[in-house]
Amino acid sequence: MLLATAYARGLSQLRTEARAAILVMAANLALGALALLDPILFGKVIGALAQPGGHVWRYIAAWASLSVISVAAGVTASVFADRIAHRRRLAAMTRAFDNAITLPIARVSARGTGKLMQVVFAGGEALFQLLLGFMREQLPAIFALALLFPVAFSMNVAMASVLAALAVVYVAANLLVMRKTETGQQRVNEEAQAYYGRLGDVISNVPVVQAYANLKSETAALQALTGDLLKALFPVIRWYGVLTVLTRAASTLALVAIFGVGAWLAQHGRASLGEIVSFGGFAGLLIGRLDTLSGSISGVVRNAPAMRNFFDLVDERPGSPDRPDAEALEDVRGQIAFERVSHWIVEEAELGLFDVSLEVPAGATVALVGHSGAGKTTMMALMQRLRDPDLGEIRIDGRDIRRLTLASLRQAIGVVFQDAGLFNRSIADNLRLARPGASEAELTAALEAAQAWEFVKEKPGGLDYVIGERGQLLSGGERQRLAIARAILKDAPILILDEATSALDTVTEAKVKQALDAAAQGRTTFIIAHRLSTVMDADLILVLEKGRIVERGTFESLVASGGRFAEMAQAARLTDGGAFSDAA
Ligand SMILES: Nc1ncnc2c1ncn2[C@@H]1O[C@H](COP(=O)(O)OP(=O)(O)OP(=O)(O)O)[C@@H](O)[C@H]1O
Ligand SMILES: [Mg+2]
Repeated sequence: MLLATAYARGLSQLRTEARAAILVMAANLALGALALLDPILFGKVIGALAQPGGHVWRYIAAWASLSVISVAAGVTASVFADRIAHRRRLAAMTRAFDNAITLPIARVSARGTGKLMQVVFAGGEALFQLLLGFMREQLPAIFALALLFPVAFSMNVAMASVLAALAVVYVAANLLVMRKTETGQQRVNEEAQAYYGRLGDVISNVPVVQAYANLKSETAALQALTGDLLKALFPVIRWYGVLTVLTRAASTLALVAIFGVGAWLAQHGRASLGEIVSFGGFAGLLIGRLDTLSGSISGVVRNAPAMRNFFDLVDERPGSPDRPDAEALEDVRGQIAFERVSHWIVEEAELGLFDVSLEVPAGATVALVGHSGAGKTTMMALMQRLRDPDLGEIRIDGRDIRRLTLASLRQAIGVVFQDAGLFNRSIADNLRLARPGASEAELTAALEAAQAWEFVKEKPGGLDYVIGERGQLLSGGERQRLAIARAILKDAPILILDEATSALDTVTEAKVKQALDAAAQGRTTFIIAHRLSTVMDADLILVLEKGRIVERGTFESLVASGGRFAEMAQAARLTDGGAFSDAA
């Protein structure tokens, strides 16, 4: 995206505020005209003082009322500009946020929290500065300059030409610095993103950093990133230094030139004292406006990369958007079919799922077992359309899930994630994610079913207890039970339990298993577990290996057939809790 495109796109945010924006522009137009009258009247006052019998009082009165009107217009312009810019910033940030949370999970995780937040924050800030800069600085300055030159030339061509030369030097210096800093600015923004990416990653992992006593090295790594950021920043700052020197020198010389030319003209009777004073004022006005304009434009250049990233995020399309003819999945029975499904997670890396076919009748319980990394979670991700198959199709109740709306598909599936997936909110709020209107009695019932009420009621505030980022103020087993309660509360016709009980002791697990068995009643349930006891009662057991189903059947039939599963079960019987994960 070009600088001009990003700029125009930023300004287009004003469309929804057309009326307020027009008011601001009108006030600015008035300000521009008034600013110009100021030196003219000042010149008149001086001229009148120098001439006996001049109308000095009339000019002074006009000058005073002018100042009052200027103040009123100035206040109107800046207050409205501020309000508009604040409103637009928040609206745009909300839009970026809305979009960010619909992106494919893999894309979000790959970028990381810190970077995404930087894009939203820095982008919002850049937009704010752009709108404010446009309405409060660029617009008034351009109006003032557009009025200044015709008036100045009509008054005195020689002195006006000096002003015009000054303007040319300003514009040239700014263009030069703009060109020299554009790529540098891009690098500054990249370094800032790296910095915030690291910052977000570390802060969300403070327990690990502390446990590994890595404080010093983490701080050092962050310092190194700050160093890179500064290194990227210095050349840019240097060019701005050059710009300041150039423009300062030009404006001083211009002021001297105005008085020099003015004095020469006066000696030859071609300029009055009042005119020279007015042109001194014009020069001040011009320098002030050009300075503002130059500062404001360099702000635009500085913010351009942040703005581009922001709009890129707003424009980024979700991985699997609804088809235009997508239909809602309703009255779900829960019959599921995979037909020759293949999906490569990483091309050529032989990671993923290959040629998986499967028929699951409504209400059945399917257990997935197999090595860590065999593709169990991936298979479930495909069913939820967190990923799409590269080949084959998945059907629910006979309907291709790609033809369904995402919202209705996800509504039909309750999930307990491998990591519990909790928010830094109260227990009640975490549960209500599954059913926003749930009553307190319903929350308690779900917690009781998941064997979680016993610990929740002990917490200060009970349901209102806030559980920390990703639930870190709870124990691992408590997190899992809360996540199970949430899935029970969702009451969806299809249930996925991805190692939902892996962090529980055997006694609690036995209790939770009862709850899960109850929850699985009348639902199609997929259960991924490493414990023999959990998968024993399943209607169908699938053994996955390197993304392929290598065995399938009931517990008895698989044990009897003496294959991979029988080996795993045999090994598991020898261990305490009947876990066959290590043997698997
Ligand atoms: N987004 C991703 N990018 C790259 N590789 C991935 C991604 N997600 C999963 N993988 C890889 O795909 C393989 C299958 O992962 P999957 O999560 O399906 O395994 P799993 O059977 O659920 O294992 P576990 O029992 O450890 O949970 C693994 O090797 C994993 O590293
Ligand atoms: Mg997994």
